[in-house]
Formats: sequence, structure tokens, C-alpha cells
Amino acid sequence: MPLLGKAVRHEWALDPEFLTVNHGSYGATPRVVLAAQQDWQHRLEAQPSRFMRAVWPNALRHAADRLGAFIGADGKDIAFVENATTGCNAVLRSLRLAAGDEIVVLTHGYNAVRNTVRFVCERAEARMVEAEVPFPHPDADTIVANIAAALTPRTRLAVVDHITSSSALVLPLQRIVAACHDAGVPVLVDGAHGPAQVPLDMTMLGADWYSGNCHKWLCAPKGSAFLYTHPQRQHDLHPTTISHGLGKGYLDEFDWTGTRDPSAWLATSVAIDFHRRLGGEAMMARNIALATDATSLLARRFNTEPGASGALAGCMGMARLPIPGAATAEQSQALRERLLAAGTDAPTHLHSDALWLRISAAAYNELEDYERLGEIVARVLRD
Ligand SMILES: Cc1ncc(COP(=O)(O)O)c(C=O)c1O
Repeated sequence: MPLLGKAVRHEWALDPEFLTVNHGSYGATPRVVLAAQQDWQHRLEAQPSRFMRAVWPNALRHAADRLGAFIGADGKDIAFVENATTGCNAVLRSLRLAAGDEIVVLTHGYNAVRNTVRFVCERAEARMVEAEVPFPHPDADTIVANIAAALTPRTRLAVVDHITSSSALVLPLQRIVAACHDAGVPVLVDGAHGPAQVPLDMTMLGADWYSGNCHKWLCAPKGSAFLYTHPQRQHDLHPTTISHGLGKGYLDEFDWTGTRDPSAWLATSVAIDFHRRLGGEAMMARNIALATDATSLLARRFNTEPGASGALAGCMGMARLPIPGAATAEQSQALRERLLAAGTDAPTHLHSDALWLRISAAAYNELEDYERLGEIVARVLRD
């Protein structure tokens, strides 16, 4: 594995004056991947008609095969979408729900996806049921048990985050999928943070759908995401935009939803090469260890506690902020804005009246970044 941290920061266009410790929210795309995206755009614009009709279809399927090899799936089970939210929407809005049906979500589920569940439930007079994720100090057994307890004979779907946004927990996905399948309930995984944060194997996981982002931890251009669909679930699944492919099958429906720029998807293979060049699985393990060390460092500095440890911890971590009394969502929002103004970007989240700081550890980060973060946070809180 090459030297990481500062030694590779020049690979990205990151502003050296700004402390980037929030790779998790929007990712960051390396120069070499942006150059590959621009190459595709130039090829498209050189011969637009020929590109759209003769180049795009094969190039897209080739990109899906490369991505498939990376996430342990067959390329023909992968449809490209713009982001994880869109992938989840496709599945949820394809459901044929009846009054009284139930969809299980997690209390730490991502707000955009929970909203989509609420939307489809309200239209059908179905119910959104919440399974609680304990925090801080959650344990895998309780999470699996809470989800299993939320399933009933009316449950049509469980929507489960692979890695939660507001608490940075890597959930025990394989056990959750098994518990849901034992109850006859299909599983949609919101895998916005999964690809390239932790190793993935769709075949082994056995989920029905996995909506994953390439533009976060894989460092692909913004707008590169995918929806993996198990072959048995491809029937009657439709993209959020209905187009020429309607009724012609999974890939025909998803591969063309209208004229657009596919360069983010086509450059994803270069992002996979870049990820491997920086160490692949060894880099992911290094980032997880760095996130754990960074979280402990901040918790020690604040004299508080980290949110989780062990197998539930990934490349992001949570440290409780030293704020006395019950905190509010408004306080959280105001603090986040003040941190941005102070030159850093770690988001803040409210859990049971306490405010938590979420950090990310990407290849370009090193422990020193979190010492700097601790100083900025302390200064902002003091002011
Ligand atoms: C768990 C989770 N789901 C979905 C999303 C949405 O990702 P996107 O904006 O790429 O759709 C996020 C974004 O951070 C997330 O954390």
C-alpha cells in the first residue's frame, strides 16, 4: 500500500486552506477520475449522435461489468442511477402496496429515504413502522432483534441502511437480511455509504436490492450510483423516469431514461482503478483504523465518549460534543454552519438530546487533521 494522508492529497483538487474531514457526505473526486470523465464528455460532444446510439450502450454495460466485479455481482443485475436516493425511490415507487401493508425502516434511516417510504405509504394507506437502532454503544444482537421484532405478516419490505448517516454505524447486514428473509420479507438496502468504505459481495449478501453510491467512498464523479437487483426481483421494477424501455426488461428500462450525460457512470471504472492503486482493501482497513483513532482522540479532547466501536465502526465515527444540558436541532444546525465558516465541514447530529460530531477518514486524511478539527471545534464552542 502506498503512503496515504498528506502524501496523496495532491491527487485531489481539495482546497488546502479548508479542513476536509467529511468525505462521507459528498465524497471528493480525484483529478485522474475527473480527467476520465472529461474524456468521455469530449467523445460524446465530438459525435453526439454516434455516441448516443453506438458508443453509450456498450460502454455503459462494460462499466456495469467492471462495477459488478468490484461489488461481487453480475453486471447484468446492475443499473446505473444518479444517486442512492434515486435507486431507493425506484424500488419504493415500484411497489404495489395495499391498505394496511407495512414497510419497516430504521430510526436512524436517512431522511430522504424515510420520506419516500412515508410518501408511498400515505398514497396506499399503508404504514411505516420503525425499528429502533440504539445509540450510543449499540450492539449487533439488539439491532437484529429490534428489526426482527418489527416484522409482521403485513410487512411488505424492510428498508435497511448498510452504514447509517446520522450515527455512522456499519450495521450487521448479512444477519439482518437473513432475519428478514426468514420472515418472508424482502430487503432494500440503502447502501449510500457502502461501496469502497467496506468490502462488498452482493451474491454473498443476498439482499433483494442494494442502492449504492460510487460518488462517495469510491470517489467516482458526482452522479455515479447504482441499483443492484437480485434476478428474481427485476420483474415489475421501474426507474423513477418511465421512458422508451417500458416493459422491455430491467436493463432496457434503466439504461436509457432520456438524454443525459453518462460520463460520471463511464468514469467509474477509473475510480475503481484509482481505489486499487491506493491499496483497495488495505486502504479501507487503514481508513477504518484512522476513523477509530480520530474518534477516540476527539472524545478524549472533549472529555466525552465515542459513539460505537468494533465491528459496527467504519470509515466514519461519532464523538459526543461537550455541550451541557439538552441540545436542540437548531443548535446542531447553527453549529454546523459555524464550523463551515471556521473552515471545516464535520456534520453534527442530535441523538437523545446530545450533539454528536461525525468525522470521516478518507485516504487523504491523517490523524493530524482531527487534532486540527478538535482545536477548531473547541474554539467555535468557546466563542
Ligand atoms: C444512509 C444514506 N442514504 C442515502 C443518502 C443519500 O445519498 P445521495 O444524496 O447520493 O442520494 C445518504 C447521503 O449521505 C446517506 O447517508
